[in-house]
Amino acid sequence: MIRICPSILNADRSNLGSEISRIAKQSDLLHLDVMDNVFVPNQTFTLAESQKIIAESALPVDTHLMIADPDEQAHLYAKAGSKSVTFHFEASKAPGATIARIATDGARVGVALKPTTPFHVIAPFLEDIDMLLIMTVEPGFGGQSFMTDMLPKIQEARTEIDAHHFGKIWLQVDGGISLETIALARSAGADTFVAGSAVFKADIPGVMVDQLRALAENTKPSQ
Ligand code: DX5
Ligand code: ZN
Repeated sequence: MIRICPSILNADRSNLGSEISRIAKQSDLLHLDVMDNVFVPNQTFTLAESQKIIAESALPVDTHLMIADPDEQAHLYAKAGSKSVTFHFEASKAPGATIARIATDGARVGVALKPTTPFHVIAPFLEDIDMLLIMTVEPGFGGQSFMTDMLPKIQEARTEIDAHHFGKIWLQVDGGISLETIALARSAGADTFVAGSAVFKADIPGVMVDQLRALAENTKPSQ
């Protein structure tokens, strides 16, 4: 099953309701990038702003936390009603406890890995998570180029998930996903795709979501 999650990072933030309505019918989840200007050199939505977006969104929200203190903060985004909450492994001192808190507060649990973080660090936690996010750009900004050198890491994660977790973990990629790159990521084994600028820079964002989905659905994972 393929999931497409448009990111509103580079959408018109002063008109979020109408931006979301342009992709709601075609999309699976709304990807919300939360940045604190500490974990990454950029700032986006506060907790209060995120709570409002989550409460008003026509789509279930996939919250991606790029913040320095997920151990204290992540579960608040679950409490706010996110469908899933993803935090960065690199920022956590107690990943096991943070995973458990998010789950207790009712969201699917995601863990994200920056490009330089190897897959094996997350292996001991796979039993307890619902989604693994492999970043295909350095987190912080939209509009960057897809890093093709992440493809072996995606493939490694796919192999491990299929061998031991029966595909129950969604394998998400985020960064530089477009009509040019989505088939590469799919072919390496990703099944859940974040796309920001490709979607919101398109003339008709909803049509772009359909095109991305069709490309992914027509590409077979290579293993
Ligand atoms: C980057 C964010 C992404 C971003 C993707 O740190 O996590 O979700 O919005 O934007 P594009 O698709 O433009 O690379
Ligand atoms: Zn993101």
